[in-house]
Amino acid sequence: MCGIIGYTGKHSVKEVLLNALTLLEYRGYDSAGIAVSGGNGYRKLIKCAGRVSDLEKLCESENIDSTCGIGHTRWATHGGVCDRNAHPHRQGKVTLVHNGIIENYKELAEEFNISDSLISETDSEVVAGMINHFYSESGDPMSSIVKTVKKIRGTFALVIMFDDIPEVIYSIRNVSPIVATITDEGAMLASDLTALCAFTNRYFVVPEYHILTLHKKDIKLYDLAGNEVEPDFQTMDWEKNSADKGGYPFYMEKEIMEQPDAISNTIMPRIKDGLPDFSEEGVPDDLFEESKRICVVACGTAMHAGLVLQAWVKSKLHMHIDVETASEFMYSDPVINNHTLVIAISQSGETIDTLEALKYAKKQGAKSLAIINVKGSSIARESDYVLYTNAGPEIAVASTKAYTTQLSLLYLIVCRMALARGILTKDEVMADTAALMSVPESIKDVLSRRNDIHVIAGNVLEAKDLFMIGRGLDHSILLEGSLKLKEVSYIHSEAYASGELKHGPIALITDDTPVVAVVTQKKLYEKEVSNIREVKSRGARIVLFVKDELSENLEKEFHVWRLPNLKDELMVFPASVALQLFAYYVSSDKGFDVDKPRNLAKVVTVE
Ligand code: AGP
Repeated sequence: MCGIIGYTGKHSVKEVLLNALTLLEYRGYDSAGIAVSGGNGYRKLIKCAGRVSDLEKLCESENIDSTCGIGHTRWATHGGVCDRNAHPHRQGKVTLVHNGIIENYKELAEEFNISDSLISETDSEVVAGMINHFYSESGDPMSSIVKTVKKIRGTFALVIMFDDIPEVIYSIRNVSPIVATITDEGAMLASDLTALCAFTNRYFVVPEYHILTLHKKDIKLYDLAGNEVEPDFQTMDWEKNSADKGGYPFYMEKEIMEQPDAISNTIMPRIKDGLPDFSEEGVPDDLFEESKRICVVACGTAMHAGLVLQAWVKSKLHMHIDVETASEFMYSDPVINNHTLVIAISQSGETIDTLEALKYAKKQGAKSLAIINVKGSSIARESDYVLYTNAGPEIAVASTKAYTTQLSLLYLIVCRMALARGILTKDEVMADTAALMSVPESIKDVLSRRNDIHVIAGNVLEAKDLFMIGRGLDHSILLEGSLKLKEVSYIHSEAYASGELKHGPIALITDDTPVVAVVTQKKLYEKEVSNIREVKSRGARIVLFVKDELSENLEKEFHVWRLPNLKDELMVFPASVALQLFAYYVSSDKGFDVDKPRNLAKVVTVE
């Protein structure tokens, strides 16, 4: 979950590393550090608990005269948040940064007799000690790395420097990602593309268990036997400055505002003659026709996108679909076989629980389709088929545009499936596709009235607990809205299927408890409104997001915010954007660092 950077080239490494760490900070922000090397044994290591901005302050007073170095921003796993647990770590002649978890680090520390020399409590420093052990014996960096990784169990992206080999950086990985590039400015690697996209749009994913070496004018890749391997360069389609804040105070606001374009970019290239078409991406209709059931594996917001898919699949395809929290999946004896289509949904494409669930499902014979935002990521590579959401980089920890682009793509898939399975006619699918194409406009309408949502948000700033209630699709929408509010505002928020309230949760409603309700489904209107009245009559303060055409009469009773009219099944789009804005304004008005909520990280690569 940490951010990693390595650079050797023409430029002052201090600037390169600090700029890159700022971009990678969303991967973890407990502590940060850099180590640099140069000719004549020049070395420096600077690290601290805190943010990259704290590291920057420390570096201000340092005269760092180097063009080669490595950097790290941490999300603590082993050992508390303190200066000595921050990366890089040093043992003997080896300095390294690490992302991942070494499961057998305690045994290895014993075996290599390095427990007493360890300064930190991290698993990573043990790896530095092991590489140093082998390096002292052989003086050979490559074989030292190979011997070390053969002994360690777990996940790792390691970036290593040797005192005796200045200005060269070594790297190896298992599961945890590393991407790399070479330009006229130098060679660079990072844990993800956000750090590279300011430099170039050419990159390659370092294959697992391959050693990468960065030199000032060259980059080399070897397999574990020492054979040179040609890197598989790819082109990223992100704009050069797409990882900037674009003038917004927070990435989350920028990313909320980008949703109309992000959705258009995701759906329009896949609509041919008014119908969804995935043939260019090699996804065959057979996959959609022959599957007997669907199983979604995903986490957090991506899992909530799966819940919306579930509602669509049931209502439009009348098909069996399970949505599984990926971290629970393989321990819950899932019923899957070669007739199951497993859909893995993930923004980052690196979420370890989703990746492991996908691998497990494939072993049981399931076919797989991944819905991913980050090109070339691990889940994308593991899956039989992949469709990318063209959301561009999502930097804020709270996912917004990734979610709505996932939904837009999933809706297209459902439409294609309906056609392939003969459930809907061409004309019916065309009508649904056209309805989806109107989603960006309806989101623009919500965005244009965001100031009113800001005012509503101002009324819950002091709340300790808040409830969100709705039924059917509205409940799925609120599960995501509630997660959003929790993670950025730290208000305890629970989303309930409103029919369930009387079975327990209504006991929590007291005078003035804020309750957010969403009413967008005609068939549920009366029941939902009754449930809202039930909590209102027990003192709850209601904020109601309601589809415009259902709003008549309600404004007399409730504080109403009108959502633009769309087909009921597509109301998830404007309603979710309204709830994203609600969470965003609560967080920013409370003065929080919206993009980096406490204890979280953007990419979750530990189980
Ligand atoms: C979203 O706001 C969360 N921070 C989180 O739930 C996220 O959606 C989850 O970790 C899954 O990430 P992924 O989409 O990259 O797999």
